[in-house]
Parts: sequence; structure tokens; C-alpha cells
Amino acid sequence: MPANRSTGEKRERPDDRGHDERVQADEAPALDPEVEARRIAATSFIHKLGDPVLKSSATAVDRFDDSLRRQVSRMTAIMDDAIGVGLAAPQLGVSQRLLVYRVGPDAPVIALANPRVEWASDESEILDEGCLSIPGITVDVERPVYVRVRAQDEGGEERLVEASGLEARVIQHEIDHLNGILILDRTSRDERKRALRELREAERQREAA
Ligand code: NI
Repeated sequence: MPANRSTGEKRERPDDRGHDERVQADEAPALDPEVEARRIAATSFIHKLGDPVLKSSATAVDRFDDSLRRQVSRMTAIMDDAIGVGLAAPQLGVSQRLLVYRVGPDAPVIALANPRVEWASDESEILDEGCLSIPGITVDVERPVYVRVRAQDEGGEERLVEASGLEARVIQHEIDHLNGILILDRTSRDERKRALRELREAERQREAA
């Protein structure tokens, strides 16, 4: 895998330039206005860095009923409209151990309740990762390349997922959300400082505009 591939919740773009978001945004083809409007609407539902819900440990799912299935549908719709590859319930302000992901446009949506990493490989890799709750930045995150995860599906049936590469990374990123851990907690001090500086700068520009 190329070392500067963007992963995490941000879907990759063909001209991905790693962590220079501004260059990336300038060079990326403009989204269709309707798609862009849906993306903006979807991201408005996603809780952002600074919200305490993102720092808390979520509660186990114990009822596999219609309300859970509705929650999965809502999460899937918001993830897709936000052009993300994964979403965890706390990102919508719901403190539940529930995540959804879709690792490619044609891949099925997978919903995992109460997921836990049962085994992770010693082999790890460092890749650039983004998060829908921290828009505008990506940071290097080191994670195991292979994981085995035990979870339940939305009907409460036990589900075993053996994942590698992007799928393994997305699952680990979303499980982190269930434990109140963000990519800024998983990166080096220098990367964190740089990312926070970029966020402050973007904020300053928004205020000046
Ligand atoms: Ni995230």
C-alpha cells in the first residue's frame, strides 16, 4: 500500500495528495451541486471535535429491535451522503456500541453492534487517516494490518469479521469512536500539533470571511 494513502472515514480521491487538504481540495474535481448539498446536510448531523460525546465510552447494544434497525439505516444514509467509508453511533450523538461501514461504492454496508477486536496482527502500517468528526485534516495513524473482530449484526446474531487493509483500518477507527478515542489520540505529537494548527487556521479564515 502506498504510504500516503488517505483512509479512515474520508473516501479516497484519485488525485489524493496525502495530508495536504488544501491542495487536495483545489485539485479535486468539483462535486455535482446536488451531491455537494447532500454532503453538507449530512455532515451537519455529525458531532465534531470538542463535543463530549466523542470522548465518552459508548454503552452496549442490548435490544435488537426496529429502533436499532432504524438507527442503522439512518447511519448508513448519513455516511453515504457525507461520502464517508464508516460511521459510529457516537458521531450522531448516540452513545451506543454500533458502527457501520462500506469500504467501496459497490461493497455492501456492514453494521456491527458490540464489536471487539479478538486478535490483531503484529504487522502494522502507518497511513494518513481522516475523520468525519474532524473535517479538513488528516494525520498519520499506525494500526495493525489484520484484525479478527467479534460482533453482533443488527438482528443480534453473532458475526465474525476477518479483515485486512482498508476494511481493518476502518473497523479499528470506528471501534475507537466507541471508546472515546479519536485519530488525534493515535498520532504523534508533531502530527497532532500540525493538525490542531491547521484546524485553528481554518477556523480563523471562516471567522474572517
Ligand atoms: Ni472518525
